[in-house]
Amino acid sequence: MLLLAIETSCDETAAAVLEVRGRGSEGEGSGEVGGRGSGVGGDARSDRAGLPEAVVLSDVVASQIEDHAPYGGVVPELASRKHLTAILPVIRKALEEAGGSLDDVGALAVTAGPGLVGSLLVGIQAAKAIAHARKKPLVGVHHLAAHLLSSHLRRPGATTPPPAFPYLSLVVSGGHTALYRVDGPEHIRRLAATRDDAAGEAFDKVGKLLGLPYPGGPAIDEAARGVDPGELRFPRGLDRKDTLDFSFSGLKTAVADVVRAHGGRPAPDEVRRIAAAFQRSVVSSLVRKSLAACGQTGVRRLTLGGGVAANGGLRAAMAEACVDAGVELFLPARTDCTDNAAMVGLAALPRLARGEDDGGTLAARSTWPLGDPNP
Ligand code: KG4
Ligand code: ZN
Repeated sequence: MLLLAIETSCDETAAAVLEVRGRGSEGEGSGEVGGRGSGVGGDARSDRAGLPEAVVLSDVVASQIEDHAPYGGVVPELASRKHLTAILPVIRKALEEAGGSLDDVGALAVTAGPGLVGSLLVGIQAAKAIAHARKKPLVGVHHLAAHLLSSHLRRPGATTPPPAFPYLSLVVSGGHTALYRVDGPEHIRRLAATRDDAAGEAFDKVGKLLGLPYPGGPAIDEAARGVDPGELRFPRGLDRKDTLDFSFSGLKTAVADVVRAHGGRPAPDEVRRIAAAFQRSVVSSLVRKSLAACGQTGVRRLTLGGGVAANGGLRAAMAEACVDAGVELFLPARTDCTDNAAMVGLAALPRLARGEDDGGTLAARSTWPLGDPNP
């Protein structure tokens, strides 16, 4: 069965085709907290129990970065108009690359929120139209749940096993930063979140302060590569043992102060040094809180997701810290970290396997809590 997935929550128009191979059962995984490298056998079984098996046949992303770059941020009205012109060609390309057509599509998935309503609606209406015309089920997906499950994405021929449940997941995107405990694809509980800016938002704002191209995340990653910031140190927000929550707004203010001290326009070498010190501070806070969460919960598996998980400094530091702490780390490929539709298809699998269908009633949600500890 082919699943067509669509993502238009922000500034990427994306479509993917997944081949669904297994239905999976309704089990929630073994529930046991495995030790490090606790073996593929039991763990792989628990994964299959929780998430039907699927491989990604195509994964097309049309980015609007160049359209928004002149404004230094996403312009919602422009984003929805760009989605409108891109959506059909992107869907067509995804089907073509998968070697199929709409005739082969057995089900659809689309991001229903959280995100920009005008953008979400473009994907939702396209998905609804196809589902209605072809009489196929359509499931609305939570964008963060999709990021959170992106470590499970597999292409044809992949041999490494996906993470087994339970695990902890750090989701670091442009709009959200949170730590979750994941006992199954639909059993997600938030352990901590940012109290102000999201990590990606901090990267983007600091990139702007430093005069780097939009978006700031990849630009800072690049500027900081191989640079030792030496004595230049920025604060780590909420650097206390009594909370797993994050804070990045004080850090951004500290960077603004240093930029001001350089007359608002630091020299290129200084820009790289500030970028590296900023990145070191964000990374250090993300790593420390994630490993503290592993320590507190006793869960020894960790996954990363969201655009900031593509950051080279974060990936290297997290890998090193996890080895030291005996925590098994699952890193999605860089392109699976930023917005894509393949992860949306994956997140829809449990509900599709149960025969659910949001059909004509699906609505866009600008906000949508995930794994609220006090619902
Ligand atoms: O997950 P994503 O593609 O979209 C949202 O759901 O928000 O994340 C986008 C965010 C942006 O803030 C972008 O600057 C950041 O991810 N980002 C990065 C990197 N690549 C993207 N941040 C740091 N380093 C990167 N390499
Ligand atoms: Zn995202």
